[in-house]
Amino acid sequence: MASISTRQYLLDRARRRFIPTINNIPGMGVLERQDLAHAWKQKVLAEPPAGSGLSPVIGNSGLPILGHTLGVFRGGPDFALQLYRRYGPVFYSAVPMLGSVNVLGPDATQVVLFNKNKDFSQAGWQPLIGPFFNRGLMLLDFDEHMNHRRIMQEAFTRTRLAGYIEHIDRVVTAAVADWPTNDARFLFNPAVKTLTLDIASMVFQGHEPGADDALVAKVNDAFTITTRAGGAIIRYPIPPFKWWRGLRARKFLENYYFERVTERRDAKATDMFSVLCHAEDDDGNTFSDEDVVNHMILLMMAAHETSTSATTTMAYNLAAHPQWQERCRDESARLGDGPLNIESLEKLESLDLVMNESMRMVAPLPFVMRQTVRDIAVLGYYLPAGTLVMAWPGMNHRLPELWSEPDKFDPERFAEPRAEHKKHRLAFAPFGAGAHKCIGMVFGQLEIKTIIHRLLRRYRLELPRPGYQPCWDYGGIPMPTDGMPIVLRPLGHSGDAAS
Ligand code: HEM
Repeated sequence: MASISTRQYLLDRARRRFIPTINNIPGMGVLERQDLAHAWKQKVLAEPPAGSGLSPVIGNSGLPILGHTLGVFRGGPDFALQLYRRYGPVFYSAVPMLGSVNVLGPDATQVVLFNKNKDFSQAGWQPLIGPFFNRGLMLLDFDEHMNHRRIMQEAFTRTRLAGYIEHIDRVVTAAVADWPTNDARFLFNPAVKTLTLDIASMVFQGHEPGADDALVAKVNDAFTITTRAGGAIIRYPIPPFKWWRGLRARKFLENYYFERVTERRDAKATDMFSVLCHAEDDDGNTFSDEDVVNHMILLMMAAHETSTSATTTMAYNLAAHPQWQERCRDESARLGDGPLNIESLEKLESLDLVMNESMRMVAPLPFVMRQTVRDIAVLGYYLPAGTLVMAWPGMNHRLPELWSEPDKFDPERFAEPRAEHKKHRLAFAPFGAGAHKCIGMVFGQLEIKTIIHRLLRRYRLELPRPGYQPCWDYGGIPMPTDGMPIVLRPLGHSGDAAS
């Protein structure tokens, strides 16, 4: 069993405390409150065409230089909710760096995500993550996107998913058995992040655990850097800052995959990289080498931090709500310790409720970006062609109009007869909606359930102290700023925690 060295622990604490971020620099909370309280000068995005009957989108620049970035990075969907209450469903954030229109509330997000008239392009992601995830599936549009998605679907059929579970379970079972116990210094979030990266190494790239450790560590590092680079404050390639590091990491990953594509095309393995090299749609269309490389880089990004965030929130909720933990453990006990498959994981219904409720409260991807391809109207507001749009499905998760006591952890709200998630098509959309809805949704759900099932079979999860609550950093995919300590108490044979 791994143990935590005091040196390592103190270094991590110092890093979290002293490396400046929007969450730990003193005074940021005050500025965030000022941003919301101040009556900023109103700005109009664009005058609607005469006689159109449309309203102009109104907004403001918020704080000098920072605009509303502080609120978005610190409060995420809670900040968006305050904007919604104050300014309504369509609000112009006139920030020089990344001016965009916030589209808020279920009706407005539905217009954007279902995109009936193909008015919204994925080019909206470009200023945020474009240079790092160039031509990944999420950045493609319309016919080209549909064609690529059809080919990629081959990697996500039920048969393929069934094959992945065996590998996921093997990596999870070994990792979880090695996590430090009875130690309030154990940080759940980085541990589960390493785990999801190890799963991805095995399932996506076919690296056996323990083989090529140095290379796997370099690849994983590069993924972490590219994924976080989109949240850079300095958005130019200036060494040694995040944006520059992200571009270097992207180059490293391109070389890594290009060097291996030919070898994968010649072999018949079942990892996702090999599957993409051989995937074809019903008409026999396949991916070029460039396509495979671009899709692999986005897939790794899309897969690991989202699953890490959701698993972290679930672990917290289970530790904070022991009655739900016991209920989920009882279901896991019925499955026992044998090999897992899709059917057995589907039986963990209470865990589904907890997973949904956790992603409702902390959506791993609370907003999505789009760009208007022509002059359009959203709920009667005029948006000219080329407008950057930030739609917030994760904010709908917090609306009291849709959810009873939205701040309360209450997984039963997803069960019949309450089924609060059915009140609106966009009430609950942690995986998005429409043509770009997450292709890895089932993969992610199976992965998360495997991790939590194996944890519940071995340990009781406890908070580091009574009343502990993590603080979330929304400057990217939400992660707890302190790494989220969780105490793992080994279970005795009777199911009680051994001392
Ligand atoms: C809890 C886990 C996950 C969450 C919450 C999540 C969330 C999302 C969301 C909200 C989108 C829509 C983005 C948009 O509309 O622009 C998306 C797209 C996508 N996700 Fe996931 N995701 C998760 C796990 C995964 C996994 C495990 C994979 C791969 C194995 C994956 C691969 C993708 C890809 C490729 C897209 C782009 C789909 C397209 O544009 O057609 N995701 N995800």
